[in-house]
Amino acid sequence: MTNAQKWVAAFLFLFVILFALSRITKEDASSDFDFDFYGEEEQSQTSSSELNGLTLAQRIGCSSCHGVDLKGTNQAPTLVNVKDHWNRTELINYLRNPSSYGNDQRFIDYKNQYPNVIMPAYEKVDIKELGAIADYILSLEN
Ligand code: HEC
Repeated sequence: MTNAQKWVAAFLFLFVILFALSRITKEDASSDFDFDFYGEEEQSQTSSSELNGLTLAQRIGCSSCHGVDLKGTNQAPTLVNVKDHWNRTELINYLRNPSSYGNDQRFIDYKNQYPNVIMPAYEKVDIKELGAIADYILSLEN
């Protein structure tokens, strides 16, 4: 090998190493910033927020009257198909102040069916948590 050939070989070698290194760092970076990665993240957040609605309802105590699955007990009605009666905002307002919504026939029936149980007002609960609970309830259907 001539000196010139050695230099060319050395440069080629360096080039290959640098190229390989850049591939490796690119792969690392893509696992942090790759768009699809966020897509997955978003999806798992959506499903966990659905979960949270039920978990929150159980933690705050809705389930002690409405049942673990919120499908009713002898203390309180089922929350399945509540979406037929409420939109999200109204439902949140209702949860914050149920006593101001007692006039529908449905509520008169509830009063007869559950005479000793009063739906508590949840005006002190974080509005975002009520929102997550409302989203969950509105997703319940037969
Ligand atoms: C102490 C028992 C009790 C607890 C705890 C309770 N509820 Fe109720 N809930 C009732 C009763 C009883 C009714 C029937 C309405 C009435 O009597 O005024 C009712 C009614 C409702 C309704 C209206 C149903 C309809 O047909 O429109 C919703 C929605 C509701 N509750 C959601 C919740 C949520 C969400 C929680 C927790 C944040 C909760 N409740 C906690 C007893 C309870």
